Amino acid sequence: MAASFGFLWWQTGVIYQIYPRSFQDTNADGVGDLKGIESRLDYLASLGVDAIWISPIYPSPMADFGYDVADYCDIDARFGGLADFDSLLAQAHARGLRLLLDFVPNHTSDRHPWFVESRASRNNPKRDWYIWRDPAPDGWPPNNWISDFGGPAWEWDEATRQYYYHAFLKQQPDLNWRNPAVRAAMYDVMRFWFDRGVDGLRIDVLWHLVKAADFPDNPPNPAWQPALGDMHRVLQLHSTDQPEVHAIAADMRAIADSYGSGGRGDRVLIGEIYLPVDRLLHYYGRERAEVHLPFNFQLIDAPWQARALATLIADYEAALPPDAWPNWVLGNHDRPRVAARLGQAQAGVAAMLLLTLRGTPTLYYADELGLSDVAIPPAQVQDPRGLREPTLALGRDPVRTPMPWDGSENAGFTAARPWLPLHADWPVRNVARMAQEPHSILALYRRLLAARRAHPALAIGDFALLDAEGDILAYQRRFGAERLIVALNLGGNLQRLELPDWASDCRVLLSTLAHAALVEDRAVLLRADEGVILMANNQNSEG
Ligand code: NOJ
Ligand code: CA
Repeated sequence: MAASFGFLWWQTGVIYQIYPRSFQDTNADGVGDLKGIESRLDYLASLGVDAIWISPIYPSPMADFGYDVADYCDIDARFGGLADFDSLLAQAHARGLRLLLDFVPNHTSDRHPWFVESRASRNNPKRDWYIWRDPAPDGWPPNNWISDFGGPAWEWDEATRQYYYHAFLKQQPDLNWRNPAVRAAMYDVMRFWFDRGVDGLRIDVLWHLVKAADFPDNPPNPAWQPALGDMHRVLQLHSTDQPEVHAIAADMRAIADSYGSGGRGDRVLIGEIYLPVDRLLHYYGRERAEVHLPFNFQLIDAPWQARALATLIADYEAALPPDAWPNWVLGNHDRPRVAARLGQAQAGVAAMLLLTLRGTPTLYYADELGLSDVAIPPAQVQDPRGLREPTLALGRDPVRTPMPWDGSENAGFTAARPWLPLHADWPVRNVARMAQEPHSILALYRRLLAARRAHPALAIGDFALLDAEGDILAYQRRFGAERLIVALNLGGNLQRLELPDWASDCRVLLSTLAHAALVEDRAVLLRADEGVILMANNQNSEG
């Protein structure tokens, strides 16, 4: 934003998530790389986003595609090297783009030297860096905890005759965050990247870091059904979201803040946390500040229904602690894409919602093209989550497919065979082609992002829901004399919204459809799947 009115970049800005394997390949191995991201920075700058967050790029055996880290302070050769990273960072900054990395503190790879040492013997100095437990008396695992990827969360180590805990794959042993040496080592990792100039960290599974000290069984989940997947058989009462995690989050925040001036750091921490809202909001911090943005994933799971969304938004706004800055997410590398969930027609409405709610939006790469999930033939499935419970459609490959750039071979993503198949619609759904189409969803994203920059009311203004019925979700955004109305038709029928008095004389600033909505006297008519931003003509009128 040109004028920030005292707000920080991560409050006014828009974050764009890149899944690095799938953004741009430059060395013809079918896998994206850092040089590829660098080569596309002009696209990102012209799209109008402010920051990029890159999923893990550290050396990794890739059992969980980078979320199994073997060295926190280097770059995997498949993505490049530290020199490529420094170049990417410098080039991003030269374009005014911030760069966030993915920090994976809960677990390492089983090939990380720390774990290699830890499993070497029971009296190795790093033994207590991970979570080792004796078997239950009958030889079974120490308790009933289940891996998020299905199956027991405990792996037997025959050599040292103990189990170790892994919330995810057995190749991802959990670190013991109760050990001060682990904390110190991981805090050094944060400093390593902040010293190098990264603008923030997205913290993987922050709510998992600490487990109940005595490892009691988790209670069974009374609502469990097979379609939910094995992990949901029990409620993760004792294995996640323990009170002690908050002191760690506060320590992390203090480190981030130490890089800014005057105690108001410009490095941002975003916590990946899947919890009910009341518990999620604790991660803003109570006694001490914690993460700046605990990721708010509610729009991913919510029923796409106007009244339900209105309630959800109002409740979230009302529950935010004082000074907490909101944030919204429509998709990520773990969840079905927005176009697959809602269909193409509503994907534009969803874009308008994401980019006009109060708070920092995070976009997922290729959602700006309306890319949908890609059906992956069983023989080509790569995601360990999908391989472990193949019948349940839990696999994440469908949402991690290559970015379609243009009409050339492999959509300009790679000169080789892409590591995952492209969506079949790439000849028409690609950046080069959609950039030429004035009413493509890409054009809509550009206009929405430009509107956020041009109108402080959208980026930092107050928020209030407006009375609406049926399929309409409507709200106002206000900053100083500037007052805007956002009205979204979440359904397939014509809808009429009565406008408040102050907006009786207004015009359409932006519509998701080709021909702007009809503004009548004191009302706006919204066609099927239409969203509009309206601006009152007399911005000085009070009311
Ligand atoms: C959450 C990440 O988003 C997901 O992709 C990963 O598999 C798990 N954490 C384990 O790191
Ligand atoms: Ca490559």
